[in-house]
Amino acid sequence: MSQSTDVMEKIVALCRRRGFIFGSSEIYGGIGGFWDYGPLGCELKKNIKDVWWSDMVRNPPPGPDGREFQMVGVDCSIIMNPKVWEASGHVGGFSDPMRDCKDCKLRYRSDWLTRWGFFQVPQIPKSAISIHDVISGIKPGTVPSAIMISDGTPGSSILELNKEAKKRLRARTFEWVIVPHHPPVLPGEALTYCVADGKSYFCMQWVKTFDLSQDYCPNCGGQLTEPRAFNLMFKTNVGAVEDASSVAYLRPETAQGIFANFKNVMDSTRVKIPFGIAQVGKAFRNEINPRNFTFRSREFEQMEIEFFCKPDESMAWYEFWRDTRINWYTSLGIKSGNLRPRQQGEKELAHYSKACTDIEYLFPFSDEPQELEGVAHRGSFDLNQHGKFSRDDENAFAVIDEDQSRDREGAGPPPGQKASRYVPHVIEPSAGADRFTLAVICEAYSYDESRASPEYMRFHPRLAPIKAAVFPLVAKDGLPEIAEPIFREIKKHYPCQYDAKQSIGKRYARMDEAGTPYCFTIDGQSKEDGTITVRNRDDASQIRIDKSRCLEYLREQLRI
Ligand code: GAP
Repeated sequence: MSQSTDVMEKIVALCRRRGFIFGSSEIYGGIGGFWDYGPLGCELKKNIKDVWWSDMVRNPPPGPDGREFQMVGVDCSIIMNPKVWEASGHVGGFSDPMRDCKDCKLRYRSDWLTRWGFFQVPQIPKSAISIHDVISGIKPGTVPSAIMISDGTPGSSILELNKEAKKRLRARTFEWVIVPHHPPVLPGEALTYCVADGKSYFCMQWVKTFDLSQDYCPNCGGQLTEPRAFNLMFKTNVGAVEDASSVAYLRPETAQGIFANFKNVMDSTRVKIPFGIAQVGKAFRNEINPRNFTFRSREFEQMEIEFFCKPDESMAWYEFWRDTRINWYTSLGIKSGNLRPRQQGEKELAHYSKACTDIEYLFPFSDEPQELEGVAHRGSFDLNQHGKFSRDDENAFAVIDEDQSRDREGAGPPPGQKASRYVPHVIEPSAGADRFTLAVICEAYSYDESRASPEYMRFHPRLAPIKAAVFPLVAKDGLPEIAEPIFREIKKHYPCQYDAKQSIGKRYARMDEAGTPYCFTIDGQSKEDGTITVRNRDDASQIRIDKSRCLEYLREQLRI
């Protein structure tokens, strides 16, 4: 087992054992892509959402010009008028072309998967003078011994590998040899790479260009169906009649609720451009391959902001939000070495987008950083679309240029000047609450053999599900009588637990696994001199303080 797989397995086991995350409906065998948060997990995720709301909506940093700006929130319904999803492009475009294997029933995303087969050549022909000669020894139709999947461009990052390919890549026992313009080995396939590890050759074949008569499943060699569009939105019916007219969708993102309410918010509040609308809530996507624990789920929560600004100020706001969001992650203890902001290349950008940065995190389940959040410059696309679909006018949501008019209530422009209007541009920082919860868990996970309890979670104090625990050393001899008032005082201000059972070592170990920063222990000495022990989670050090100072001490240390 590789080290990182090992770490991920330990994290998943700890999450289960300590009640962070369980598989949904486990008693019935579970259901792929759905997860339940247990007592510790729901506190952790709630802290994440609360901290996001507090830092982004109630108390955002000053804008690019050093001035304050307005942020407000909405909480929209999950099921909306299906026209919303036509306007947003999700009905027509939120789909993957899929291919199914008729035998093993595996489903593949045919637009995304570029499959490279590792074909082991048993013997290199003596006469071989080029890689071409080696490859020509492979029998047509050979099923690859290992598969790796990349996005297809030479040198691009590897998105998924099977075990054999992973082993070889980690061991780095081979060299890459680029073979340009190589003739196809199998009908419809173009070979671009060959790999040699010194003893034998492994050829990697691009099997993206399918020849339908030859199509085979990379898993079992079975026949593949032709590509079929598979929409990722969950469908349901609204009302008693189940027909085409009652079809509705579970929202695949929270963003559209914000756009649909843009005018309501402007008309009912005193916000002025530039301002942002935020929403935290559930989103649903019928993902083909839910995987990597909660990373790709079918039901998940998003924390999204749509920030509306003037077109000529939009790049400054884009840069502001990109940097603000990166700083937010590091302020919560994510090491900058594990965080990678990746600016999308021009080819990756949607046609309406001027710029987009994916903020990625290096999870232990992958060698490549994976997306936590996208910060996208969406231009005026979304408001134009909703204008077109709801009012037949793509400028329906244009606003008056405040700089050129006396006031927005309609007093009109200064004499001789015509107020111009524009459709605001949008900057969208869109984060996943579950993805960040998983990143926080991975980042906090620590293992130290030298400790009595080697596994512990170094959560940032703002995120820790429990901030303190109070333990009478024994549940008698007057110790609970000292401990209980301390517990009662702390719990009014911070999530705190009281535990009087088991050995003190086991109680510390449980709190270490929960990531509780401080434990207060009341012992025999407390009765004599009024002091108690404070134990620090991170270095297991202990000091004594006066029992009257517990809350004050916690405040000083946590600084929250
Ligand atoms: N409104 C833009 C939007 O939804 P996205 O990149 O599709 O953009 C934004 O999603 C964020 O939502 C992602 O960065 C990720 O954190 C989270 N997310 C998306 N799909 C997810 C899934 N299947 N499981 C968990 N989180 C997901």
